[in-house]
Amino acid sequence: MSRGVGRSPAPTSGDAERTQLAQAAGSLCGPADRTGVVDRLLAEGVQSRVWRVVTSGPDGCRNHAVKWFRPGYRAGDSVAAEYAALVGLDRALCELGTETYRVRCPQPVRRWDWGYAMSAVSGCRLDRALARRRSPADEERLLVRDLVAGLTAFHAAHGGPYGDFHAGNVLLGADRAVYLIDPAPANPAFFTWPAEATPPPLAVDLAYWTFSAAVRAPRHPRTAAAALRLAGALRDAAVHPAGGRRLAAEIDRCLADYWVRLARQGLRQHAVAALARRLRPADGRPDRGGEDDRGRR
Ligand SMILES: Nc1ncnc2c1ncn2[C@@H]1O[C@H](COP(=O)(O)OP(=O)(O)O)[C@@H](O)[C@H]1O
Ligand SMILES: [Mg+2]
Repeated sequence: MSRGVGRSPAPTSGDAERTQLAQAAGSLCGPADRTGVVDRLLAEGVQSRVWRVVTSGPDGCRNHAVKWFRPGYRAGDSVAAEYAALVGLDRALCELGTETYRVRCPQPVRRWDWGYAMSAVSGCRLDRALARRRSPADEERLLVRDLVAGLTAFHAAHGGPYGDFHAGNVLLGADRAVYLIDPAPANPAFFTWPAEATPPPLAVDLAYWTFSAAVRAPRHPRTAAAALRLAGALRDAAVHPAGGRRLAAEIDRCLADYWVRLARQGLRQHAVAALARRLRPADGRPDRGGEDDRGRR
């Protein structure tokens, strides 16, 4: 008889995830007569999975989104940092009076060491929404103006850049609701400058929007083209008011830095950086036709 017979198999990370989600569903219930169920997987990425958890009781149902971080992505307090950023974002946006769009975010609910819960929101990734149905330029101008207002309010409340400000982290909802999600950088080192050369948060984030769209362009040309078009409009909205020239220069400096950082990460990244530099808006139209990027994040 082999020594392993009769033993239960070693727990896997999938077992841990199931247990943690089940506990989360239980603890999201308020009064004792509520029930909580893990309803379905909403999205899956390299670093995390986002699940919908539904709680119900006498006062009705509530939908939560529970973001479960893969164990390899919990180092350096990343869960706590992202949750704190979401709390800051919520504080900044909850009463922000923008002119046309309601710029909001999911409400933070609870944090564990493996992830956190927030209210579930309903919307489509902005780059996919715009790639499918191009809005009139005037409408896009209204949207970017309000996005810049939301971003600036976050900077004031949180005291630093958003970190992962890109078109995949903006969800377009119904009735001109727009949700900012996923604040705080997945890779904080990427956003670190020497103290004397730290750029303003608006430059860091707007340059990152362009960077992230350009890097995405070779594999996802249509959504990246939509995001790059918006990058130009975001820049105009931010730079237009006062002191614009200096901000424009800082955005360019950040972007130049990102290319250098990317190129330093290895041969493949070097090739991506070289290609992406050619695709950014200042250098020409990024949409060269080709395949769509349906169904991927
Ligand atoms: N509060 C939420 N409500 C509904 N869906 C959400 C919520 N948060 C995230 N999602 C879904 O999960 C996806 C990934 O979430 P995100 O926080 O951006 O994760 P990642 O860190 O992997 O980029 C989003 O594009 C969206 O589809
Ligand atoms: Mg994201």
